[in-house]
Amino acid sequence: MSIPADPVKLMKQEVGKAAANLVKSGSIVGLGTGSTTAYTIQYLGERLKSGELKDIVGIPTSFQSEVLAKEYGVPLTTLDAVDHIDIAIDGADEVDPHKNLIKGGGAAHTREKVVDYLAKQFIVVVDGGKLVERLGSSFAVPVEVIPMAITPVTNAIKALGGKPELRMGVKKAGPVITDQGNMVLDVTFDSIDDPVNLEKTLNNIPGVLENGIFVNCADIVLVGEVIDGKPVVRQL
Ligand code: A5P
Repeated sequence: MSIPADPVKLMKQEVGKAAANLVKSGSIVGLGTGSTTAYTIQYLGERLKSGELKDIVGIPTSFQSEVLAKEYGVPLTTLDAVDHIDIAIDGADEVDPHKNLIKGGGAAHTREKVVDYLAKQFIVVVDGGKLVERLGSSFAVPVEVIPMAITPVTNAIKALGGKPELRMGVKKAGPVITDQGNMVLDVTFDSIDDPVNLEKTLNNIPGVLENGIFVNCADIVLVGEVIDGKPVVRQL
């Protein structure tokens, strides 16, 4: 694996690799989405290729992780074929001191929530810049909405005091469309005092499929940092 010069990439690579090292032979593994877990998937493939790791199967959380798993030789299965997940490894956009998360920067939070909550052990991998005192400080809450309900859901979120913005595509005209064929509202709140209740309140709006607040689910948070020019991984 080549060493990237960019410190953020370096942190992501080291933390992604550290999480891949926690996977044991014979495990069913939830494969997260994003630039950090891309390194995890790559390193799982390398461990399999070297023979150090054997008999794992992955459950992808997105089209992206499915493609990466195929590229790096990680065998895949589906939730119809297994009765549990041993370990899930996934990134996050914000992590608070209680290990509550905001996810969905890659619009994959719905499948991620299914897989990450099912796992016996859920490992979160982030670079140090993702740590916040309070959720919502630097990142809006992604809310996946079925297309026919986009206007009533937008209005309902405004009535709750949120500022919703329809996520637009990059190098694609029009909105981002999720792996499920839905749209995403990125919702800014002045302050998220009670993430447990906000998660439920948002999901109770008819037309909302899932939101990116993940509470009481992360077992271990691994944080990648660069100290004195060297990458260090610590546990929160
Ligand atoms: C995908 O929808 C997200 O939940 C990602 O897991 C999250 O955005 C972290 O991505 P990075 O590892 O690219 O920062």
